[in-house]
Amino acid sequence: MKKSYKFSTTSVAYYFSDEIFRLKNIVDQKNTIIITDENIFGKHVKKFRQWNSIVLKPGEEFKVQSTVDSILLQLLEMGADRNTTLVGVGGGVVTDITGYVASIYMRGINFGFVPTTLLAMIDASIGGKNGIDIGVYKNMAGIIRQPKFILHDLEFLKTLPKNEWENGFAEIIKHACIKDDTMFRELELNSLKIYQTNKKKINDLINRNTILKTKVVQRDEFEKGERRLLNFGHTLGHALENQYELSHGQSIAIGMAFASIVSQKINGFKEAHRVINLLSKYGLPTFASFDKQKVLEVLKKDKKREKSAINYILLERIGKGVSKLIPITELENIIQDF
Ligand code: GLY
Repeated sequence: MKKSYKFSTTSVAYYFSDEIFRLKNIVDQKNTIIITDENIFGKHVKKFRQWNSIVLKPGEEFKVQSTVDSILLQLLEMGADRNTTLVGVGGGVVTDITGYVASIYMRGINFGFVPTTLLAMIDASIGGKNGIDIGVYKNMAGIIRQPKFILHDLEFLKTLPKNEWENGFAEIIKHACIKDDTMFRELELNSLKIYQTNKKKINDLINRNTILKTKVVQRDEFEKGERRLLNFGHTLGHALENQYELSHGQSIAIGMAFASIVSQKINGFKEAHRVINLLSKYGLPTFASFDKQKVLEVLKKDKKREKSAINYILLERIGKGVSKLIPITELENIIQDF
């Protein structure tokens, strides 16, 4: 099923429930270079036959400038020009790097994504933010530029490790918390196992979440208002993610649990227990002991900071997120009690 979504400067074609072999109908194979990582390439070697490919080392630690430099050099060596399209086939690290490199190579060439993880399908590949980390600071360098297309091939989920399912569900729970109480109830009634084994249910859930995020971005592409809600759980989450051995899903789950408790303390929210129970049901952590001083230092450098306060995403109720400016001093006190 193909659907086009309009953003400020371009339309993005979404190929829902599709198959990667159809990529050759979407792009000109001769002028296309796939960027993927060793894990995906190794597991799906046949799918990459006849495609020019750049294969990266897997992992967030490679989402850095030195990887970008190496790809830029390889593109030059491969003779990539302004008519080349880059296609990122992989999880969020691959899609982020691909979108970023495509946006700077020769001042910008076309790119598309085939997200291969649940998280990348419903979140990382959508929205146009593509960038790299600087030290412990996540996504500190980057751009907002939309891909030409996004293609979903659910076959990739068959080899997805359990922790990757949990990463995806962390973002799905986030979407439910801030925007969709009906989906929140559906998630409460179902389980990870049910979604892993029921093709229709996972397909519907992926499409619903993809469209939910897309619509938020369409309404506020440059994050002046509503799009900020997507940062629910991410302020503390990002501060934890690169300092500790936590996955993205685990970090933002702890961030969401914390934000729910903050919502209860200062925003009249009454259902932190439901958020915490749902996160646990999907195998995600809700508390962690961490070096509060160290994490506060990172929080103070957060992109969402405004002078001495941080724009924090809280819940008013399940399905309704709100943005609140919280003074750093107040946040320090709440964190000390967490
Ligand atoms: N690339 C993820 C986003 O734009 O939110």
